Amino acid sequence: MQEPERISVDYAVVGAGVAGLRAAIELARGGRVLVLAKGNFGESATAVAQGGIAAALSDEDEISLHEQDTIRAGDGLCNPQAVHVLVEEGPQYIQELIGWGTQFDRTGTKLAFTREGAHSRSRILHAHGDSTGWEISRALIAKAATIDEIEMRPQSFTIEIESSEAGGVGLRFLNERSGRVARVECRAALLATGGLGQMYPETTNPFSATGDGMAVGFRAGAALSDMEFIQFHPTALAAPKAPPFLLSEALRGEGGVLRNAMLERFMPHYHEGAELAPRDVVSRAIVSEMKRTRSTYVYLDLTGLNEEYVKKRFPRIYSTCLTYGIDITADMIPVRPAAHYAMGGLKTDLAGRTTLAGIYAAGEVAATGVHGANRLASNSLLEGLVFGARAGKAMIEDSPASHGARKQGARGHKPGTKQNHPHSTSHTSDGPAPGSSSHPAHGPDEKPEPTLDKIREILGIHVGILRERKELTQAIQQLDAVEMTAPHRPERRAWEIYNMWALARVVARSALAREESRGSHYRSDFPYHDDEKFACHSVVTREGPVRFE
Ligand code: SIN
Repeated sequence: MQEPERISVDYAVVGAGVAGLRAAIELARGGRVLVLAKGNFGESATAVAQGGIAAALSDEDEISLHEQDTIRAGDGLCNPQAVHVLVEEGPQYIQELIGWGTQFDRTGTKLAFTREGAHSRSRILHAHGDSTGWEISRALIAKAATIDEIEMRPQSFTIEIESSEAGGVGLRFLNERSGRVARVECRAALLATGGLGQMYPETTNPFSATGDGMAVGFRAGAALSDMEFIQFHPTALAAPKAPPFLLSEALRGEGGVLRNAMLERFMPHYHEGAELAPRDVVSRAIVSEMKRTRSTYVYLDLTGLNEEYVKKRFPRIYSTCLTYGIDITADMIPVRPAAHYAMGGLKTDLAGRTTLAGIYAAGEVAATGVHGANRLASNSLLEGLVFGARAGKAMIEDSPASHGARKQGARGHKPGTKQNHPHSTSHTSDGPAPGSSSHPAHGPDEKPEPTLDKIREILGIHVGILRERKELTQAIQQLDAVEMTAPHRPERRAWEIYNMWALARVVARSALAREESRGSHYRSDFPYHDDEKFACHSVVTREGPVRFE
């Protein structure tokens, strides 16, 4: 049998979205950094984020207002310190991104801001109209490629965390190019693998969102927190044969309205914020209207907006919908909610430290408490940026760099090479270009996957937007009955499904334990807040019941 390839670096980063890349850039100040991405660089959830990145940068805005809006959307469960860090430090990191070449849209020379649900000001920066994440990803990859200390390995799927003989951390990963398992030894590792939307039957998330970082950390003994809080984006495309492609909240921010199957506008009857109410409110209102009108969708109506403006402001959404026969400037767009974002994840402090020594987490994979029970629109890219940088700093402080590492300011800069610069700065790079992505839950090869189909069916029926005890108990029983053992072979898809199954059980158990309604977690049998018992976070470890602290 072949010996596994052995790699020794100072720091490892798993995942190459905004959190992982920003952390890697920081970590390069402290030593050699290996970034493992399971797909190609530029295929992360970051790269397909449309709407934008929120920050109090406009003359009409204030940091305290962004803070208030975030806390209000979080429905009593935000960690106020985490929110403060996010809104206070966000602007400086965005300025840094601009300095690294990120091209946000401008009106003349001034940054252009749009508005999204539950924001009291227009504070969402966007790029190429509706390809904000792609632009941020492009700029970060280009920046990382200029730093000698960073090595980026695509098609490297992390399977497990292992203890390290040298006293640090070991990671076992599958090199899909060679088909061989490899092992990396490092002082500390950051998990930045994003979310888990692929375990639901309909999701706006990319194929890669299979919860790997959460599952790998959980198996190694780290605590997961707030896993019952799954955000459903209200407006995913619901056209026949089309994937649940995201129709950005910014469409409503620019004046789009929701209508039921009878073409009646309904949101003003549900919330004073109408179409710009918090996402959980809009998603539940849509479900109610679908039920009331016996329809499987409602409509997003952009016909009142200027046609040329819509095409220019949302080029990617316009062209994607056109491929499914929908002209968004003239037609009613059928939409319904789809799984979009996990507020919970690996429990961390404000520096990304998980409950496991040497293991850090940042971005969607982490639960800092910054989003509470419901994330405010366009706070996710910001979270990745701010907490990715903070985790990088903490990793260096907690495990000082080796003697051979370069000191701050002494970075080697090099031109982008094919190996180290896998996503060039032009739109014709080998990463997906803006406008090219859509995300049905199924992978591109469409091989039958009965176990995963079963998991998705269980979650879709019993652990969706509306929940209750009987349904959740059934979900847990049915998930426990799924025949599943840790894969014997290092095969990526088998491990992804195993990861999703493990997390589906945690989500269902956490949802059953929280006997109240709050933010994205709605229990029809407990329709109100119960602050006495549940104004706190759920925590689950490998062994033991769900507890609240
Ligand atoms: C959107 O564009 O609506 C998604 C942005 C987000 O999830 O914050």
